[in-house]
Amino acid sequence: MFYDRERELEKLNEVYSFPGSSFLVIYGRRRVGKTALAREFLSDKLGLYFFVGEKDEALLLEEYSREIEEKLSRYLPPYVKPKFGSLEELVEFLLDYSRERKLVVVFDEFQNFRTVKPSFFSSLQRLWDEKKETSNLMLIVIGSYVGMIKRIFMDRKEPLFGRVDEWVKLKPFDFWTSFNFVRSLVDVPPKDFVELYSALGGMPRYLLYVPRYYHGGSLEALKALFFDEFAPLREEGLNVLKLEFGRFYRAHFSILEAVSLGYVTPKEISDKTGMKLLTVGKYLSELTNHFEYLKREVPVTENPLKTRKVAYRISDEFFNFWFRFVYHNYTALEEDPRRVFERFKTEFPAFVGKTYERIALDFVRGLDLGFRPERVGRWWQGGEEIDVVAYDRKNVVLFEVKWRDLSLRDARKVLNSLERKAELLPLKGNYRFGIIARELEDKEELRKEGVLAFDLSDIIHQRLQCPFL
Ligand SMILES: Nc1ncnc2c1ncn2[C@@H]1O[C@H](COP(=O)(O)OP(=O)(O)O)[C@@H](O)[C@H]1O
Ligand SMILES: [Mg+2]
Repeated sequence: MFYDRERELEKLNEVYSFPGSSFLVIYGRRRVGKTALAREFLSDKLGLYFFVGEKDEALLLEEYSREIEEKLSRYLPPYVKPKFGSLEELVEFLLDYSRERKLVVVFDEFQNFRTVKPSFFSSLQRLWDEKKETSNLMLIVIGSYVGMIKRIFMDRKEPLFGRVDEWVKLKPFDFWTSFNFVRSLVDVPPKDFVELYSALGGMPRYLLYVPRYYHGGSLEALKALFFDEFAPLREEGLNVLKLEFGRFYRAHFSILEAVSLGYVTPKEISDKTGMKLLTVGKYLSELTNHFEYLKREVPVTENPLKTRKVAYRISDEFFNFWFRFVYHNYTALEEDPRRVFERFKTEFPAFVGKTYERIALDFVRGLDLGFRPERVGRWWQGGEEIDVVAYDRKNVVLFEVKWRDLSLRDARKVLNSLERKAELLPLKGNYRFGIIARELEDKEELRKEGVLAFDLSDIIHQRLQCPFL
């Protein structure tokens, strides 16, 4: 069953409705759901799906001819049997065919043409430039290796540079969509789901493991998914990323591992990995801007372009978990998986706490605070940290996020320390304070006192009721 992706489908349909031809790229990491999205989009349209396997041109053409015969035969005169001597002939045929009728053509894993037939990129460019004005082809190109796809279309020296009209980056589901997706398949309590989400992220493919592996305990499910001998996700990070980085993958992996362990500034990463600061800077910028696996963060009160207080984090929840607990323990996993799992159990709650902070941040972004914040984010300075700060010129709202069940007394202590930290902030205005816990005792009592008091049940329900917040 295909789930959600409404915004992406809307975008694709909008482009489809444009008269004439368009060139669209769908990119995003492996397993995120690009193929599923393309197939869903094609399901009610005249369109062709071509997977670019790493095989001979002749073999691909055989497959593609079959697809054309199947989908187009009723629109072709009976004596026309599609047969092509080259990919160029095929593309020319499709461009010409679409003069009469809107046609969608999908090339999945397009970057594989680099090995199948490198010259195809420049012939495609030539045919496209020559015929797109008179045809009605929606060309969708799918790529899993962000780096390679960007090189093919964004490097001035490449033939297809500048030909793309629309880019769709497919991201994992957000927390709420992930929860509803899994709940449509199996009953998982929200608390357990936060733990599973901390490891699997919003990747449909991994979330589909939950019905099979979850039997009432999230730790047992994660053990079977990541740590056991035949755990299906144990090698997953390696499988997905190794090709992306090519022969430089070790250096990239070291940096991602360091970041996942909490070494988040260039200096800390350099000390941890033993790489020179300059080299680390180069890799960090590549991993952030080119590959998009890291996010650069600054304290919410700082100017992102000017400040030197920069920290990095892994943007994909799954990779963050995999590097932290699997890749980091590779050798130990071979020798003594039981020990690895025992240590994991003690370290995991703090890790989930960090994930919960990010979920809470998203929750606050969708919350009506009575004003429209200019910025919402984390703040830190020295050893002090505030989990969520939202502010405009006149208002400041601060939240402490706790992945713990809090009694009223605990909550008051948390609020006291938050009020103390508030004095460190360089923000003026009317301050309000809030708590987002796992479960909060006497929420109503706190709310009467003007505290913005929430827990996981509020987080879950907010988005269940208002999916578009
Ligand atoms: N929107 C979705 N709804 C339901 N299942 C999905 C969705 N997107 C992906 N999946 C499932 O996740 C798995 C991986 O998706 P796929 O499209 O093959 O990823 P990609 O092409 O990006 O590698 C598939 O088994 C697919 O069925
Ligand atoms: Mg695919």
